[in-house]
Amino acid sequence: MKRFVMIATLLLGTIATAEEVNLENGKTIAETICASCHGDNGNSNISIYPRIAGQHTAYLEQHIKDIRDGKRTWGDMVVTMVPMVAELSDKDVKDVSVFYNKQLSSFGESENTNLKEGQAIYRAGIASQKVPACLACHGPAGAGIPAGSTAQDGIVSFPRITGQHKDYIVAQMQAFRDGSRSHAMMSTISTALTDQQIEDVANYIQGLH
Ligand code: HEC
Ligand code: HEC
Repeated sequence: MKRFVMIATLLLGTIATAEEVNLENGKTIAETICASCHGDNGNSNISIYPRIAGQHTAYLEQHIKDIRDGKRTWGDMVVTMVPMVAELSDKDVKDVSVFYNKQLSSFGESENTNLKEGQAIYRAGIASQKVPACLACHGPAGAGIPAGSTAQDGIVSFPRITGQHKDYIVAQMQAFRDGSRSHAMMSTISTALTDQQIEDVANYIQGLH
């Protein structure tokens, strides 16, 4: 009896750990499904596919589920991802999110045009337009904050944006602005910025690391 209890406990222990995260499963999903668009280890070199290497697990999970479940619909290309993730269980999503979180990100480069202006917006914001500094939430090097300080407003995490494609950033800021991507903070910020200022700050972020 004692031995049975011991074995049962051991087995349960193994099952419990396996239930938590299966990195091998995450890696297999990443290599067989995601890599064709998001690149090796999540470092996509095509600007319509966001870089996801090193992104916070909670943010990845939330957005993969939203795309799978038809809740994230902004962006012309996002429909191409839906059938690719339709069959993934929540557990698969967790595994692949942890896998990408552990990948090292590579970086883009900023163009020289208006780099100072972009840097100033990122670091200091624009007081006269009531735009807060991006670094207040996304960090000085764009690393973000893994867990949201509050569940209000659906914030699961302040995403990592360092080295992200400029085109993708601009597209997201426009989506926040026209309301197709809804988020109180980012909508207010994007609306307060001019098109040129969005271009400039996005260019700065692309080379940030
Ligand atoms: C057919 C191409 C394609 C495949 C395959 C694909 N994606 Fe995507 N993914 C996209 C596109 C396009 C977007 C959204 C771009 C936009 O919003 O403009 C996206 C967005 C995302 C985002 C949101 C990123 C952010 O910063 O908000 C995550 C996370 C993501 N994909 C993860 C995955 C994972 C994990 C897989 C594999 C299970 C996968 N994708 C497979 C095309 C793809
Ligand atoms: C008050 C906090 C806060 C400030 C300040 C802030 N952001 Fe954000 N940002 C967020 C949050 C939270 C999200 C995630 C929203 C979500 O989950 O959809 C986000 C998302 C984003 C995204 C989308 C990332 C992705 O992978 O799709 C971009 C791009 C972005 N912010 C750029 C900026 C820029 C540029 C500035 C400065 C002009 C800025 N943010 C200032 C909180 C902030």
